[in-house]
Amino acid sequence: MESPFKVDALKGKVALLTGGGSGIGFEISAQFGKHGAAVAIMGRRRHVLDDAVRSLKSLGIPAVGFEGDVRKREDAQRVVEATVKHFGKLDILVNAAAGNFLAAAEDLSSNGFRTVLDIDAVGTFTMCREALEYLKKGGHGRNSSGGGLILNISATLHYTAAWYQVHVSAAKAAVDALARNLALEWGTDYDIRVNGIAPGPIADTPGMSKLAPEEMTSGNSRDQMPLYRLGTKWDIAMAAVFLASDAGKYINGSVMPVDGGLWLSKPRHLAKEAVKELSRTVERRSRVAPTGTPSSKL
Ligand code: HXC
Repeated sequence: MESPFKVDALKGKVALLTGGGSGIGFEISAQFGKHGAAVAIMGRRRHVLDDAVRSLKSLGIPAVGFEGDVRKREDAQRVVEATVKHFGKLDILVNAAAGNFLAAAEDLSSNGFRTVLDIDAVGTFTMCREALEYLKKGGHGRNSSGGGLILNISATLHYTAAWYQVHVSAAKAAVDALARNLALEWGTDYDIRVNGIAPGPIADTPGMSKLAPEEMTSGNSRDQMPLYRLGTKWDIAMAAVFLASDAGKYINGSVMPVDGGLWLSKPRHLAKEAVKELSRTVERRSRVAPTGTPSSKL
């Protein structure tokens, strides 16, 4: 789909994306590139990075891939430094790397819980911490959009609770807390904006194939969505372009749900037509019942 933003919305920016070689991370890389940014992507698998960089370059996007695991501080430091060495600066850090699997809490080991916290929460903090010096130097008052930007990809599942996702809920809650707290400290001190995007279920992503494999999903599951469709990687990438562009320059410490309103929704137990009928019956009953009886207190 065509972008509604100007092609030079991110002109001259340098972005580093963890998990930028696949899924949502790759789509954000591509859209940042299509809007004028140079893009460095970080991931654990060399062949995934190579394929992604090849695709980005074929679109005319200046791109480079660096192998690394966000759980290792030395990797984070090396990749941030390599990005700055390669492109001369760093304006935007996107934390899109994440780990996930379905596991009932009673079947989850502490190490399984810790692994996801390490990737999502500690990994995000480590990347932010290592990038700080460059976002600070690169940013403050240097261009019209102010300082550097950090964008964390989280989720909406921890707004309520999610089956077999206690580890991920805890991790994503921490990621959102990072966005708000770093926004407060680094926004004030260094003019660095820190925001989050919370995707709902997004089609054709590793997350979707892990959390809703074909074996689990019924044919009509899309009918349960408020906007009658799954999200797309494009939906998330457009939110990222918006937040990274000058249009988002007063947005700091926000986590934007991009899920079509799904997190607000509950299964519909009663059809609309049935509500009308039932509601009128209940009202009629309360009019004829004497005041003070339980039915009048419904
Ligand atoms: C129970 C499991 C498990 C499973 C792993 N573990 N898979 N427990 N059920 N299916 C436990 C292991 O037993 C082990 O604990 C601990 O987790 C670490 O497992 P490893 O395999 O050694 O870890 P590692 O090789 O580092 O792999 C990390 C990973 C893996 C998270 C488990 O899946 C991964 O690398 N994922 C990255 C890609 C990914 O998941 N992408 C999807 C992101 S989707 P013990 O006690 O045995 O040592 C996403 C969407 C979120 O983020 C939003 C949702 C709405």
